[in-house]
Amino acid sequence: MNQDQLKQAVAKAAIDYILPHLEPRSIIGVGTGSTANFFIDLLAEHKYDFAGAVASSEATAERLKQHGISVHNLNSVQELEFYVDGADECNKHLELIKGGGAALTREKIVAAVAKTFICIADDSKKVAVLGEFPLPVEVIPMARSYVARELLKLGGDPVYRTGVVTDNGNVILDLHNMQITDPRGLEEQINAITGVVCSGLFAQRPADVLLIGSKNGVETLVRKP
Ligand code: 5RP
Repeated sequence: MNQDQLKQAVAKAAIDYILPHLEPRSIIGVGTGSTANFFIDLLAEHKYDFAGAVASSEATAERLKQHGISVHNLNSVQELEFYVDGADECNKHLELIKGGGAALTREKIVAAVAKTFICIADDSKKVAVLGEFPLPVEVIPMARSYVARELLKLGGDPVYRTGVVTDNGNVILDLHNMQITDPRGLEEQINAITGVVCSGLFAQRPADVLLIGSKNGVETLVRKP
């Protein structure tokens, strides 16, 4: 199985996971990226079984609409049972690095609202220690240099992702060369830097369910409360 087939397999597993819980009034949170895209394409086959979706990016909103799935503003949604999204890295505690697609802030907002965050990933994303994938940090443009200097003090090497503007009009600094042994602590430290909008560390709000695809099938990990 190639990587796309693994992504497709975990997307299908997420569909199977949520399907029994869907009701005509259900709204589903939908993430961003190639794995999430496989999920969207499969979700479209069930579009008459639920009310619609909240998108974590403009790109996802567009794809959902192309499939005829109605896209709701998060502010008008009372309840979000599920949020389904991919990740750039995940560990056994279901803590994640996200934001390779620069959608981290909206992803974190939708994940915060959802009762159950289902992360879908192929097994190349599973690591013992987070940080090999450069940690994306969304930053207010005028604070870019200041935030980069502060991130340097945390021990990493921030690199400006040139040519990328987020859906929120901000820029991304990718923090290289970090061995993230305390994801919750680092998330808190980065959040405290003035000018940071959001980091791609999902440790304070990790995934609740992780569906990992490998050539042996899809493994389901559930976070212990
Ligand atoms: C986008 C993300 C994605 O979930 C992450 O980059 C994984 O993407 P892919 O499914 O294409 O590997 O966080 O901001």
